[in-house]
Amino acid sequence: MFDASTYRDRRAALIKALGLRGERSGLVVLVGNGESPMNYTDNAYPFHQDSSFRYFFGHSKPGLAAAMDLGSGESVLYGDDLSMDDIVWTGPEPTMAELAEAAGCAFRHRSSLATDSREAPAILFLPPYRDETRRELARLLGVSIEAVDGKVSLPLIRAAIELREIKDALEVAEIEVAVATTVAMHRAALILTRPGMRESDIAARVTEIALADGGGLSFPVIATTKGATLHNHRHDRSLAAGSLFLLDAGAESLKGYAGDLTTTFPVGRRFDEKQRAIYEIVLAMGQAAIPAIGPGKPFMAAHDAAAKAAVTGLSSLGLMRGDPDEAVAKGAHALFFPHGLGHMLGLDVHDMENYGEDWVGYDGAGRSKEFGRKSLRLAKALKAGMVHTVEPGLYFIPELIAAWKSEGRFAEHIAFEKIEAWMGVGGVRNEEDWLVTPSGARRLGPSFDKSTAAIEAARSSGGIHG
Ligand code: GLY
Ligand code: MN
Ligand code: MN
Repeated sequence: MFDASTYRDRRAALIKALGLRGERSGLVVLVGNGESPMNYTDNAYPFHQDSSFRYFFGHSKPGLAAAMDLGSGESVLYGDDLSMDDIVWTGPEPTMAELAEAAGCAFRHRSSLATDSREAPAILFLPPYRDETRRELARLLGVSIEAVDGKVSLPLIRAAIELREIKDALEVAEIEVAVATTVAMHRAALILTRPGMRESDIAARVTEIALADGGGLSFPVIATTKGATLHNHRHDRSLAAGSLFLLDAGAESLKGYAGDLTTTFPVGRRFDEKQRAIYEIVLAMGQAAIPAIGPGKPFMAAHDAAAKAAVTGLSSLGLMRGDPDEAVAKGAHALFFPHGLGHMLGLDVHDMENYGEDWVGYDGAGRSKEFGRKSLRLAKALKAGMVHTVEPGLYFIPELIAAWKSEGRFAEHIAFEKIEAWMGVGGVRNEEDWLVTPSGARRLGPSFDKSTAAIEAARSSGGIHG
C-alpha cells in the first residue's frame, strides 16, 4: 500500500469532484471483492481485489467494503476481525483498527454497511461485474438484482475516471515496476523458446517470473503459435521451426499495477521473408502512431496513423491498393488490423473497463459501429499522466478473409487473390506501454529493442536449433 495520506487525498478529491457535479449528499459505497470458489468454498481462484476499492482504500483482502459520506466527508472501512477458527485456518491478520489506520479512515463491522446505507439519503455506486456484488447492492438498495445495473451513478463513474486516468508519480513508478517484470518475462521467452517445446512450456516460464516477483499475472497469458486468434488462451500446441510465436503477457506489481506487452518472434532463429515483411510493417505502425501521442491529441488519430502505415506497408507488398487515407476512412485496413491501437493501463490491464469504455475511452462522445474501429477502447483526447498501450498488429484470419472475399468487400483496396500466399504468417502484434508526458510520450519500462536484428540476435543467443 501507499501511505494513508494517498488514500485520504484520493477520497477527498473524489468527494470534491462529485460536489462539482452536484452530488453533495449520500453514501458512495465500494464493495470489495470476496473469494471466488472454483469448485467448493474453500478452494478459490487466486484472489483479486476490486480496483476501485484498491484505489480509494488500498487494501487487497477479501470480504471488505467501504463508504464515503458526501455530506460529512467521513470514510469508513467495513470488515470484521478474525475469529479464533479463522486464525487457526489462515494465521493472524492485521486487525480492522490497523487496516483502517493504514487507509486513513474509520472502521465498523461489516454488517453496519446495511444499517448505514438504510440511513443514507442516496447510495452511489460503480458498475458491478460480479453477481455477489450485485446481490449485496440489491440488498442495500432494496431492489431486485436485475435492477441494480440500471442504478449506477454516472457522476461517480465520471468523477472516478477523472481521477484514475491521470497517474501520479507514485503510480507511474509502480507501473514501471510491473513493466520491468513484464520485460523480464518476454526476454526469458525469447531466449528459452525452442522447436519441439510446447506453448505451455513458455506460458509456464513467464508465469513463474511473474509469481516470483510477488504480484503474479495481470491477465491470462497468451502464448501461441496461432497468433491470428487475438485472445488465444490455449497452450497445447507443439512449436515447430518456421512458425511465429506470439506472447501477450503481463505482470502485476505488488501494489496492483499492471504491465501488458506483446512480443512476436520466430520459433526458429530467423524470420522468413514474409514474416519479416509483416513484422516490419507492424513496427512501422507503432512508429507512425507515436508522434500522434501527446496532451490534447485524440488517440483516435494515433490509431488512424497506425492504420495508414498498415495500408502503406501492405500496399508495398501488393496486398492492398489505392489511396491509404481513403482505405482507412472506409475501414478496409480492418481485414488485417481488426482491433484498436490501445487501451488505458493502470490497476486494471484494461484500466477501468468495468466503468464502461464509452466513458473511459470516449467521454461519452459516441463510438463507431464499423468493424475494427468499434474495437478501439481509447479514442479521446489524451492528457499528461495518462498511461496506455500501443499495440499494433496484423493478422491473417482465415474465416474473416474468406467472408470478405466472398462478398468482395473493399475489393478496390484489398488484393484478395494475393492473400493466400501469406496465410502462413498467422498473426503479429507488438505491444508497448506508454505514458503521456507534458511534451509528448515516453515508453515505460527498461529498454527492449524489438527490431528484427535484435530479435534474431536474442533467438540465436540461447543455442537455438532451427
Ligand atoms: N492483453 C490484453 C490486451 O493486450 O489488450
Ligand atoms: Mn496485451
Ligand atoms: Mn493490451
